[in-house]
Amino acid sequence: MTSARRGCRAVVTALVLTLTLAACGGPGVDARVVSDAAEDLSSDPPTDVPPLPTGLEDPLYPDLGAPGMDVAHYDVALTVDDTFTASGTVTITIEATEDLSQVAVDARSLAVSAVTLDGDPVEFTQVEPELLVTPEQVIADGTTFELAVTYVDDPTINPEADQLGPGWIRADGYSYTVNEPEATRDWLPSLDHPSDKATWRFAVTPPDGAIAVANGLPETRPDEGDAGPWVWEVDQPMATYLAQVLVGDWRIVEAPAVDGVRRISALLADDVDDHEALLDGIDAQVAFLQEAFGPYPFATYGIAVVDEEIGLAIEQQTRSLFSPEATTASVAVHELAHQWFGDAVTPDRWADVWLAESFATYAQWLWDEEQGTATVDEQAQAALEARNEDGGPPTDDPTVDTLFGFNVYEGGAVVVQALRREIGDEDFFVLLRSWIADNSGTSRTTEDFTALASEVAGRDLTGFFATWLSATELPAELPA
Ligand code: ARG
Ligand code: ZN
Repeated sequence: MTSARRGCRAVVTALVLTLTLAACGGPGVDARVVSDAAEDLSSDPPTDVPPLPTGLEDPLYPDLGAPGMDVAHYDVALTVDDTFTASGTVTITIEATEDLSQVAVDARSLAVSAVTLDGDPVEFTQVEPELLVTPEQVIADGTTFELAVTYVDDPTINPEADQLGPGWIRADGYSYTVNEPEATRDWLPSLDHPSDKATWRFAVTPPDGAIAVANGLPETRPDEGDAGPWVWEVDQPMATYLAQVLVGDWRIVEAPAVDGVRRISALLADDVDDHEALLDGIDAQVAFLQEAFGPYPFATYGIAVVDEEIGLAIEQQTRSLFSPEATTASVAVHELAHQWFGDAVTPDRWADVWLAESFATYAQWLWDEEQGTATVDEQAQAALEARNEDGGPPTDDPTVDTLFGFNVYEGGAVVVQALRREIGDEDFFVLLRSWIADNSGTSRTTEDFTALASEVAGRDLTGFFATWLSATELPAELPA
């Protein structure tokens, strides 16, 4: 769900290709279903439309996503057994943005048993890490279709593990997800690239006695003691890497809403009293960041804490996930800041990840300054020195190995502070708030950000960004 044009929902895939094209060809032309004509040409093989590449060719993760498609919605219906193995069907609503003779879905180390297209069984093969679906007829540009994939996340199929593991993590008595950057496809067939955001519905049936939690707002749950799905809905666009599914002996902990924004957290039953400081800190941190970035962008916020010491926290949309040793106030403010920088406005390519991490780290510096522990300038100067000693890639050009490295985090927050000093406090905070207000719900590139910065500052900042954002070695001092 990005910039692609909408409409033509009524066109079915069995239509005559030329009619379909005509129907979708221009604004104001009504799509019409001409079912009589379908039979005549239904045997025409889609040979004149060669398959598109199976990935978006992101320079860092080339096989994620796919061209010619724009996902509008994921309906994820899973059943989780008592070994915390997930199986079920994901129904993906996709708009074709080119003529498609093949649909390539990211699905790695999954056992797919059936695929339907608009309800009809369709041929598929699995060529790791892709699920390749061959429709009987070309799917015409502009058509919206539903692809339903039925599968098991069979744990005996070994994933080519992502940096943080297999995405869907089976822990002791429960499960959780940790996907960034490319492990959602290890448990969910999806177009797993951050440029393609969509709305979501999760209907997850847990094993007996357990519950299921996912991003967003709770819709329905089974009656006490009954089996059945726990349904959660995400009405604002979400990137795949931010998907959260928690199953097991979790407890939902809800605090009073503030300004209409709910506070829905999830804690393990055994730890339900262990994270009061983290829970109690949320309201003050939201208030603090709203001052800097503008209104909190979603309908709910909360935390989830696992009991495995995996050394991280991650900004899953509407509910950040923490491992127990990462539950400090500083990490909490980092993950909360990501709800604006990363979740509401998402990096368009993985190399743009500084648009999330550098700003979330900068938010920690703002928070620390407010607490009186260190000023932003002190932290920036120290990080600048460290960065110039250690080298590494430019902030806007990381490698797979340095995607979550120093020059994207603290080294990138240096770039943010340099920008603030360059353009002044007033323009700087106008820029941050405009960036969010103008782009919330979308994925954006570094170039989008630097263009807005120049616009807000009223002058061309190309030289500044060449010196700070895109350079290997930075100046020794921040701008005066
Ligand atoms: N985005 C997470 C954070 O807030 C980091 C995840 C860490 N590492 C990773 N390989 N994805 O900082
Ligand atoms: Zn982060």
